[in-house]
Amino acid sequence: MITKPTVVPRAELHCHIEGAAPPTLVRKMAQRYNVDLGDLFNSAGEYAWHDFTTFLKAYDVAAALFRKQEDYAELAETYFRMLAAEGAIYGEVFISSDHAANAGLSYRAYVEGIAEGIKRANEATGIEGRMIATGVRHYGAKSVENAALTAVNEPHPMVTGFGIAGDEREGHPSNYAKAFKMAKEAGLGLTAHAGEFGGPESVIGALDYFGVSRIGHGVRAVEDPELVKRLVDEGIVLEVCPGSNVSLGVYTNLRFHPVNILRQAGVKITLNSDDPPFFKSTLGHEYAETSRVFGWDRAIQKEITKTAIDAAFCDEATKKKLYEKLEAGTAD
Ligand code: ADE
Ligand code: ZN
Repeated sequence: MITKPTVVPRAELHCHIEGAAPPTLVRKMAQRYNVDLGDLFNSAGEYAWHDFTTFLKAYDVAAALFRKQEDYAELAETYFRMLAAEGAIYGEVFISSDHAANAGLSYRAYVEGIAEGIKRANEATGIEGRMIATGVRHYGAKSVENAALTAVNEPHPMVTGFGIAGDEREGHPSNYAKAFKMAKEAGLGLTAHAGEFGGPESVIGALDYFGVSRIGHGVRAVEDPELVKRLVDEGIVLEVCPGSNVSLGVYTNLRFHPVNILRQAGVKITLNSDDPPFFKSTLGHEYAETSRVFGWDRAIQKEITKTAIDAAFCDEATKKKLYEKLEAGTAD
């Protein structure tokens, strides 16, 4: 009998919890709070936006519908169960104290809700998860410092990283250096969105001023060979989100996306879904489509998951379990 091989175990380092909200769950929250969704969805029931700015607006509108600890537990449980169903063994989600505050929720309740959702998904599927506190760059330097301070002053064992998201075209990187310094002193892992809508100079700024070990996106580094060399030499890991980049128009087509060029140059890359329902993607889709388009075999997919585990912001005992699962899932 011929048995179909199972998918190579997957791991995700870059997904925004609010950006992971499926439209069905958002509609449920809107009913719960009697909110009119206006033009958040198109006639096909999908998120409606047409560029980065309108995407960020739609994202904020959907996020504001999650108002209670249990709402976030439901969202996290839904997302991590979906990840696990696609063969993921690990996921890190970006969380945002600003979005919690916008919805009238305390940071403590927000984090406890997400932790509860991850725990429920873990009990059901074995998937492991962690959270990365983020500041939103276009909300300003003070707001990003506040996000770092909140994460530092109200620690949680599952909040293991700090990062910056939002519009990287805003503000000089030096404006945000203090936030990263505070997070680093508190022992949090560091990552920053750069090289998505900003060019190589934005990635250089993140490396020089933030001291990050990982870059969210980072793909536009490909435009500067010196920077590509630096990424390789310093072992910087890119959280690449190909579907997101194509959806938001950074590249016209997956065939023209630089993820394979970067990988072949020796840059450490991982695959991620960013804000899956906004981009009609999933982590499984990212692995499957890049593998199809670039001809990646199981060994390359395994290497990508291993890179994610190496770079994960979690403890060594958890990593050991994940490596064992990766080996068990690829013993063919
Ligand atoms: N926040 C949510 N998704 C984002 C993205 N793709 N880039 C920057 N900030 C974001
Ligand atoms: Zn992102």
